[in-house]
Amino acid sequence: MGDKSMTKQAKLDAIKQQIIDDNITPELAAHATQLVFGEGSVDSDIVFIGEAPGKKEDLKGVPFIGAAGKFLNEMLESIGLSRQDVYITNIVKYRPPNNRDPLPDEKTAFLPYLESQLEVIQPKLVVTLGRHSLNCFLPDLQIGQVHGQPQEFKGRMYLPLFHPAAALYNGGMRQTLLDDFALIPSIIKKIKLS
Ligand code: URA
Repeated sequence: MGDKSMTKQAKLDAIKQQIIDDNITPELAAHATQLVFGEGSVDSDIVFIGEAPGKKEDLKGVPFIGAAGKFLNEMLESIGLSRQDVYITNIVKYRPPNNRDPLPDEKTAFLPYLESQLEVIQPKLVVTLGRHSLNCFLPDLQIGQVHGQPQEFKGRMYLPLFHPAAALYNGGMRQTLLDDFALIPSIIKKIKLS
C-alpha cells in the first residue's frame, strides 16, 4: 500500500485484504457471509457512508441493496445521479447479528480502514447516512440539529443526512431526506468553485 504506481482500485483492494488479514471484529466476521467493502466510482466527488450491512447486503457483498438502498437509489436519481456515479460504503463492514446497532468498539475498529478508503478516493463531499456515521467523524453533533447543513472538519466537507431506513415508514422523514438530498449539487458546485 502507498505505492504511487498502484491504481485507486488496487489500493482499495489492498485495504479490503488488510481488514481480513488484521482479523478485525472476529465475532462479526464469524457470523457474516462476507465482508461488504464498498461499491461505485473510485473517482467520485461524493462518498456515502452508512452504518453496517443488513441481510441482503451480507448475502450479496454489496452495500445498500435492500429497502433502504432502494430509497437511496431513488434519491440519487432525484438529483440526476446513479449508484455508478458515486461511491457507497459503511462504517462497519460485516453484518451485525440480527441487524443490531454496531457497538462502539466495532465502529472504532473499522474507522482507520474507512479513513484509508477516503484517502484513496479523495471525495469532495462525505455524506453521512444516520447518526452512527455522522458521530464517527463528528461525535459532538446531533443529527436532528445538523442534517442538511454542510460541516467542514479537518479539511474535509461532510453533509449529515438521516439514514434512508428511517424514512421507509415515515412520510415526513422521507420528504426531509429528499429536501436535504436536493442540496447536494449546489454544495458540490460551491466546493469546486472554492
Ligand atoms: N443500512 C446501512 O447502513 N448500510 C447498508 O449497507 C444497508 C442498510
